[in-house]
Parts: sequence; C-alpha cells; structure tokens
Amino acid sequence: MLWFWKLFIFFLLCAFNETTLHTRKIIDVDPTRTILWGPGLEPDKIVLRARYIFVQLVDHQGLNVTNSPGKNFVAAVINGNSLSNETCRVWSQIFDCKDGSFIIRYRLHETCNDLQIKVLVKNHTLPLIRPLIKGPIYEEECYCPQKSIKKWLEDNHCNSNHSQILRDLKLFPSVDFEIYRSKIISRFNQPHGVSLCHYVIKNNKIHRQCFGEHVGFKTFVDDILLSITRKLFLPDVEFFMNLGDWPLVLKNTELLPIFSWCGSVDSNDIILPTYDLAKSSVEAMSSVILDMLSVQASSKTVWEKKIEKVFWRGRDSNRARLILIDLSRKHPNLFNAALTNFFFFTKEAEKYGPTQKHVSFFDFFEYKYQLNIDGTVAAYRFPYLLAGDSLVFKQDSKYYEFFYKDLEAEKHFIPVKHNLSDLVEKVNWAINNDKTAYKITKNAQQFIRDNLMPQHIICYHAVLIQKWSHRITSKIKVFPEMEEVTQKEHECNCLNTKDDGSEIKDEL
Ligand SMILES: *[C@@H]1O[C@H](CO)[C@@H](O)[C@H](O)[C@H]1NC(C)=O
Ligand SMILES: *[C@@H]1O[C@H](CO)[C@@H](O)[C@H](O)[C@H]1NC(C)=O
Ligand SMILES: *[C@@H]1O[C@H](CO)[C@@H](O)[C@H](O)[C@H]1NC(C)=O
Ligand SMILES: *[C@@H]1O[C@H](CO)[C@@H](O)[C@H](O)[C@H]1NC(C)=O
Ligand SMILES: *[C@@H]1O[C@H](CO)[C@@H](O)[C@H](O)[C@H]1NC(C)=O
Repeated sequence: MLWFWKLFIFFLLCAFNETTLHTRKIIDVDPTRTILWGPGLEPDKIVLRARYIFVQLVDHQGLNVTNSPGKNFVAAVINGNSLSNETCRVWSQIFDCKDGSFIIRYRLHETCNDLQIKVLVKNHTLPLIRPLIKGPIYEEECYCPQKSIKKWLEDNHCNSNHSQILRDLKLFPSVDFEIYRSKIISRFNQPHGVSLCHYVIKNNKIHRQCFGEHVGFKTFVDDILLSITRKLFLPDVEFFMNLGDWPLVLKNTELLPIFSWCGSVDSNDIILPTYDLAKSSVEAMSSVILDMLSVQASSKTVWEKKIEKVFWRGRDSNRARLILIDLSRKHPNLFNAALTNFFFFTKEAEKYGPTQKHVSFFDFFEYKYQLNIDGTVAAYRFPYLLAGDSLVFKQDSKYYEFFYKDLEAEKHFIPVKHNLSDLVEKVNWAINNDKTAYKITKNAQQFIRDNLMPQHIICYHAVLIQKWSHRITSKIKVFPEMEEVTQKEHECNCLNTKDDGSEIKDEL
C-alpha cells in the first residue's frame, strides 16, 4: 500500500503547488537570441541619471517569451574605472516586467572610463556590439554640454518631428518678443492672476523672472533646463512658461506664445511634457520612486490573475469622479473606486464619502482595468497607467498632454464618454474580449517604451527649444530684473568642451 500513499501525497503536493508550478513552469529561452536595446548601451553618447537597457527574451523558435522565467534569470554586471583608476561607483537594478522582458538600469556616481557592460541570460553572457566603452562616461551632474545640437540630437536619437510640436509651432512662424513680451506680462501679471515665468537662455545660462503669487513650481522647469544645459549647449532662446495647470491662451483671445503643461482643444498654448514626467525622467534612481521605468515592473500579478474590476483612487477634483463613485456603488462587481480627499465638493462629502486611504500606485495593477479621468485638467497619471500592465479606459476630454496626438483609441486604450455613460458597457466588453484587451495593454506598453521614456522627455524639450529658437526674430537679451538659475557645484573633467572661444553654431 505504500505506493498508494506515495501517489496520494504526490497528488496532494501537486494540488498545493499548482499555483507555484503554473508560474514556475519551465520557459523555453534561447539566450543567444535575446534582444537588447536602449540608451544604456550608449552611455558615452546619451547621458541620463538612470541609464537603461531593455532585454526581451526569445525562445528557440524565435518567438518573444511572454512570461517571467523566474528569479535570477537575467543578470547584469557593470563596472569601469574611475578617473583615479579605481573601481567606478555604479549602482544597478534589474526589473522583471513579468512578460518576458526586463529592464536593466544603472546610475553612475562619478565619471567612468572603460565601462564594461555584461548582460547574462541563464548564465550565458550576451555578445554586445560595444562590450567595452572607453568613455569618458559622465554622471548626470556633470556640466559637459555637447556644443553641436545637431550631433546631440542624432546621438540621442531624438524624433525631431513630433506632431504636437509641429502643430503648436505652426501658429508662430516668426516671433518678435519686442511685441509679445509686454503684452504677455500686462495680460497675465495681474493681482490674483496666473503664475508664469519669463525665461531667457543665453550662452547656455538660464535666467528667469516669475510673476504671480504661487511660483514654487518654477523649480520643475529650472531642473529640467539645468539637466539639458549640462548635456547640450542650447541655442539662445526666450519663452514664457505657465506654472499653472490650465492652458492660458484661449482661442477667442489674442494669440500669444506661452508654454504650458496641459493643452485643450479651445486653447493655443505650446505644450511641454508635464512637470511630473520631467521630474521623474531626471530624478529616476534618485529622489523619485515612481517613474516610467519602475512602473513597468510594478505588477506582482500576471494578467490571468488580476482582479477583473476597474480600480480607481483620487481626489474629488472633477464632477465625473463623483459619477464614478455612483457607478461603482451600483456595480460593485465591476468597480473598486473611492475618493481619497474632498476639496472641491465638500458639501457632497457625506454622500460620496467616507474617503479611503491612499493606495500605492504600484498596487493599482493588481486590478485588470484602470481608468484615467480628468482632475482639474488632464490627469497626469496617464503615462504611468499606460506603462502598467493593465487595460486603460480613458475618459474623453478636451484636455491633452504632449503625447496624446500620437495615441490611438481602441489601439492603446479604450475611450469612454466624458460623462462615463458607456463605461459599464465598455468594461463588460473588455471582460468578454479578454484577448483583445490584453493586446491593447501590450500596445500601450510598446507605445510608452517608444515615446515616453526619460530619453524621449529630454529630447522633446531640446527639440522644442531648438525649433522655437529658429522662430525668434528679436534679439535675445538678459533683463536686469532676471535671476540666474545656476548649476549645483560639481567637479567634472570634460572632454571636448574646453572653452576655446569659438562661436557656437546651430547647424540647422
Ligand atoms: C519581440 O520584441 C521586440 C522588442 O520589444 C519587438 O521589437 C518585436 O517586434 C517582437 N517580435 C514579435 C514577433 O512580436
Ligand atoms: C590603471 O590600473 C591598471 C591596473 O589596475 C593599470 O594596468 C593601468 O596602467 C592604470 N592606468 C593608469 C592610467 O594609471
Ligand atoms: C547560474 O550559475 C550559478 C552558479 O554558477 C547558479 O547558482 C545559478 O543557478 C545559475 N543560474 C541559472 C539560471 O542557470
Ligand atoms: C515629419 O512629419 C511629416 C508629417 O507629419 C512628414 O510629412 C515628414 O516627412 C516628416 N519628416 C521627417 C524628417 O520624418
Ligand atoms: C452623456 O453624454 C452623451 C454625449 O456624449 C449624451 O448623449 C448622454 O445623454 C449623456 N448621459 C447622461 C446620463 O448625461
């Protein structure tokens, strides 16, 4: 009878282990076919705080692997020599995106020479095109700007043809700030008016004067400009930056050139990536935890195991958010939605409360469906939602960010009406069309990898500033009222940026 018990125990173990076995099932991987890409492979040309490399596993048939192969499958060893010929201080991380792809990212704490990047898959070292990069390879803090913007844009593989930039700038074929400057200041610099800053970049030095009561957000603009001027010698330029959420240049008013974070169909502001995305692009592996890289590995739950409900948390900054609470009460089987804060509709707090605790953004992706719903303007969480591995429903809205024009409804997200009247129907559709829903989720992830990574955010600013500078006909001068925004002290030994007094030319 012993065999019977053995068999019985075996079955028991199988039953108990079913879930673990399911996720740990041996996944066929051919290490030699692994696909590698990303700016982290060209650290001498592309300077980022967090340099990153994508790894896509491929099986013996040549098909992309779509599941996690388990722990310690992909490894990376990155080292180099410091300027004093000691081991260079490098910090690296690996993210398992649980879909057959990984992200390796690393941060240099000092300038390195002879950087060696070794990527291992299943203990097999991958052949790299450039296994040893002579350098020097600068850390983010180095002020070593590349003098040729043309070369820099090429080296950084910047898309110089963004549909949003082309559209925004079409309205301003030539810009004379001798005319616009005083108009902008007198129209917007009013008591209790908006907050905006006047920036002048001259000889790659940043100067600004801000107007308005609440100008704290200027640090976001300062920080991204400081980061770019460390990498690249920007052409001389002048512009006004709106520090508020609402676009300022309404279509029924006089056309004035103002840069803003959020656009709307009824305004003509020139759009830049939001302060939030700009900050996380520069500060990944530093002061931010949630960034466009880390969010891709946030999910602990594979698609099949996710809870089939719409998950949503946020504050009461829009009537539609209250409508969502109504819907979720009516359809508790489809929604887990709650407000975390009352500020705008405090009179209705009793009806729509009680508020619930804040939930870590990374935990949103335990749920299969996410909803992007306007706050005061566009919800700036949209890029992060698209980067996660859940399906995103997006409320139709007049507001947009810099990348919306390149997104396609039904391909990258599911559109829903502004008043959410078709949301329940669309969620039911997704439940009944799981394969298509999954495909849309993957398309969104591909989109964000191709368009919204830190490299792309920095490029967008550089391209916009370059194109803007070409349109300005007035003389760029620093005004006495302006304050200089200076770089933090940081010693660096730059190659090729000796101040030889030669004139900077923008070869375009
Ligand atoms: C495999 O993944 C790579 C990297 O994301 C992608 O470029 C390629 O199109 C994928 N191949 C297939 C057959 O999906
Ligand atoms: C750096 O150190 C290595 C050995 O650790 C030595 O071979 C090399 O000559 C040194 N280079 C310099 C510039 O000191
Ligand atoms: C890689 O090699 C180490 C030791 O040589 C071993 O412990 C580990 O299991 C191996 N990993 C894989 C995925 O084969
Ligand atoms: C830029 O985009 C326009 C259409 O949006 C296209 O006609 C043009 O060829 C593109 N230029 C480059 C250099 O890709
Ligand atoms: C929601 O908006 C649509 C138009 O997009 C309209 O036809 C419909 O009546 C609205 N529903 C409610 C409940 O307001």
